[in-house]
Amino acid sequence: MTKKIAVLPGDGIGTEIVAEAIKVLDCLKHDFGLSVETEFALIGGAAYDASGTPFPADTLKICQQADSVLLGAVGGPKWEPLDYSLRPERGLLGLRAELELFANLRPAILYPQLVEASTLKAEVVSGLDIMIIRELTGGIYFGKPRGRRVNDRGEREGFNTLIYSESEIRRIGHIAFKTAQKRNGRLCSVDKANVLECTELWREIMIEISSEYPDVELSHMYVDNAAMQLVRAPKQFDVMVTENMFGDILSDCAAMLTGSIGMLPSASLDKNGKGMYEPIHGSAPDIAGKGLANPIATILSVAMMLRHSFGDSDNASRVEKAVTSALDAGYRTADIYSDGTKKVGAQAMGDAIVSALRAQ
Ligand code: IPM
Ligand code: MG
Repeated sequence: MTKKIAVLPGDGIGTEIVAEAIKVLDCLKHDFGLSVETEFALIGGAAYDASGTPFPADTLKICQQADSVLLGAVGGPKWEPLDYSLRPERGLLGLRAELELFANLRPAILYPQLVEASTLKAEVVSGLDIMIIRELTGGIYFGKPRGRRVNDRGEREGFNTLIYSESEIRRIGHIAFKTAQKRNGRLCSVDKANVLECTELWREIMIEISSEYPDVELSHMYVDNAAMQLVRAPKQFDVMVTENMFGDILSDCAAMLTGSIGMLPSASLDKNGKGMYEPIHGSAPDIAGKGLANPIATILSVAMMLRHSFGDSDNASRVEKAVTSALDAGYRTADIYSDGTKKVGAQAMGDAIVSALRAQ
């Protein structure tokens, strides 16, 4: 049956990188029998400019009706002066909440070809393969009360709430344990249980459900230490599971171990495995419109979509192999460039990946 993909390029480099991912999908359709159709919709600043809201109702409807969603990036300085409720980011967060995409998988894999692109020493990062599982629809990002007010002393205050219910922790915990079972059987739960009651509960629940997974070795780490360990000795980790904001921060940190944030895809899944797929990087306003962006994270997000939502591991592996071949052939966007390689823009990188795909 033909699968429907809602495509939301968004803002900044979002449109440039999604265009390259679409080329890959087209090639899979024509050369490898993939049966998908795409429907484009607006999100973020582009949606705000067109319709006055970053999260139009018809975009939500298109995403609800689709089998999966491919998203580029949202945000940019142009929309920063807007009220919070109208900021591009509200579109992305709204989509995550409405589609209940609570499980965010962020794999950080170092391609051997990019050892030189990492700011860390080769021996620290070579062979790196970590899976960060970030809770995506709860925690401080969504907790209430939140807002700004003037206090009794006439001073302005800002406040947010870090809150998790037991069931929210449990469901992301199960995803994490199951993921660890399929990998090397080690799960590190990251919290700040020495200071925050909410994450003390997080730790308790992780320990409770661990009895259902005797084959997984559970450990715990405070988030500050986890950030340090990620840059000190990242290969100690297999799967990490953590709260929404901790996961946001740690996944950017892990991204740099792989050479560039332009390499990291992600999957955000609901309880039935329906997902939204996006690069973990943002809209990169500084390079937007220049054709310089790295489309690999978005192309690898397509591979994750094929594997997780469509159960098509053949085509997923083809895409991953094509990325490897393009890197083997020496193609590099500016973010992963090192001496002796060929510096190319987004389109040429997309073309190199598509021709490697065709050649398979
Ligand atoms: C991410 C991004 C988003 C987040 C922003 C764009 C709202 O940083 O997906 O990591 O904070 O979740
Ligand atoms: Mg982030």
